[in-house]
Amino acid sequence: PYVNTKDILEKANKEYYAVAAFNINNLEFLQAIVEGGIEKKSPLIIETSEGAMKYAGMGDPLRGASLFVKMVREFADSLDIPIALHLDHGKNFKYIISAIKAGYSSVMIDASDKPLEENIKTTKDIVRIAHAAGVSVEAELGKLAGIEDNVASSESVLVNPDEAKYFVEETQVDFLAPAIGTSHGAFKFKGEAKLDFDRLKKVKELTKMPLVLHGASSVVQEMVEIAENYGADFGGSKGVPSDILKETVRLGINKVNTDTDLRMAFVAGLREFLQNNPKEFDPRKYMGTAKTYVKKVVSDRLELLGSANKA
Ligand code: G3H
Ligand code: 13P
Ligand code: NA
Ligand code: ZN
Repeated sequence: PYVNTKDILEKANKEYYAVAAFNINNLEFLQAIVEGGIEKKSPLIIETSEGAMKYAGMGDPLRGASLFVKMVREFADSLDIPIALHLDHGKNFKYIISAIKAGYSSVMIDASDKPLEENIKTTKDIVRIAHAAGVSVEAELGKLAGIEDNVASSESVLVNPDEAKYFVEETQVDFLAPAIGTSHGAFKFKGEAKLDFDRLKKVKELTKMPLVLHGASSVVQEMVEIAENYGADFGGSKGVPSDILKETVRLGINKVNTDTDLRMAFVAGLREFLQNNPKEFDPRKYMGTAKTYVKKVVSDRLELLGSANKA
């Protein structure tokens, strides 16, 4: 069924596991994610960025949002696993309202680059509108940045736990993304992967709410190798290792945002297939291996995070 993201995450919070939130831009990634969810009997959170809404709607975000809702609902309504659709990194009022209007299960208001009081004010406004429509809300505190890049300024870059407590009480958000040292994309750490576990632990103790880890991709080595064997150059790429990810779940992370790992798996499969099948031009065939690899990464992640058999 199609459900509120809040229901998925409150259960995860109670039972100490995390649910992956997978970014999509098109049908094929959605199909692969759904297959992984069915195989693992796991709840699923599908998310789209503002850019994805614009892309799918050919410039019209409301049209893009409506397409995503229709696709996700069509699968969700006919399946036994709970599936939610979330707007990732909502920054513009127009996009957030479009997602709510179209029928998303939840939205993120990302005003984390603004001063605290302004972040609170903006977040409160969105919470009021979203909650009136039965839509849950995620917000972010701190900036996504590697710890090592910001040794001197980590106090101002990473989440402040006392601020987090104040923020959630003021805004009434449903889940919170605390910055603890991750970053988006395939190049997260220059040296050793390191996150601020103490900070995460404090935020959990003070808020007790479902917490979200952004920039959580692991950069799956197997996929990097396949892609590079078929011509890609992902030199220097590095993600959050599985054991570190598991530790964040133990310390209270319940939603694990994952985009990069799926993109890399897809491109690995696409490159492999195209090179091995130079005469093929049927998209249903040349995206086949790509989808199989995305599904594999999805299944492995659901298992790792503990949401398998929680549907
Ligand atoms: O957090 C960002 C997501 O990975 C997707 O971003 O669709 O704007 O490239 P994008
Ligand atoms: P990755 O780039 O690590 O997949 O992070 C995705 C994310 O945080 C989306 O909001
Ligand atoms: Na998000
Ligand atoms: Zn993110």
